[in-house]
Amino acid sequence: MAEQHSSKGIMWATIIVAIVLIAIIYPLTVKQSTSAADAAGSNDSADVRIQPVAKFELAKAAPAAAAGPKDGPTVFNSVCGACHNTGAAGAPKVDDKAAWAPRVGQGKDALYKSAIAGKGAMPPKGGAADLSDDEIKGAVDYILTKVK
Ligand code: HEC
Repeated sequence: MAEQHSSKGIMWATIIVAIVLIAIIYPLTVKQSTSAADAAGSNDSADVRIQPVAKFELAKAAPAAAAGPKDGPTVFNSVCGACHNTGAAGAPKVDDKAAWAPRVGQGKDALYKSAIAGKGAMPPKGGAADLSDDEIKGAVDYILTKVK
């Protein structure tokens, strides 16, 4: 299931990149075609003509950039999965219930603490220091739903 989430992420990233590229290229094509037609003041008219496009793109881009806290699966797929999907650095794999049983036995709070402060080869917050404690807890909760 983790693969599904990450491919969705890639799909959205591709769409956003495409939108940004269109936003950059479209004004260039508009400017080229008008500058020959009305040489005088063509910059002004081109600016006016591209304005709605620029505004539209800004309006669309802003919420994406300021999208609130990331949920557990998102954090897991973008940060934790690098080790916990593959077993890299000796991390217990997310589909290895036996490896998780004794860890789950410590209780949720101990797992939150390990994930936030780091443990053994795992850096604090899995190396993503910009994530909030709650985002890390969400990722731990997500792991717990998969290992139980
Ligand atoms: C660089 C690789 C790496 C990344 C990235 C990583 N981990 Fe880990 N994780 C480990 C390793 C290695 C262990 C085993 C640590 C030990 O027991 O010595 C571990 C253990 C854990 C444990 C069990 C801790 C315990 O007390 O037994 C939890 C919970 C955990 N990771 C959650 C996360 C979460 C949540 C993320 C993402 C925010 C994450 N990990 C990212 C390598 C990683």
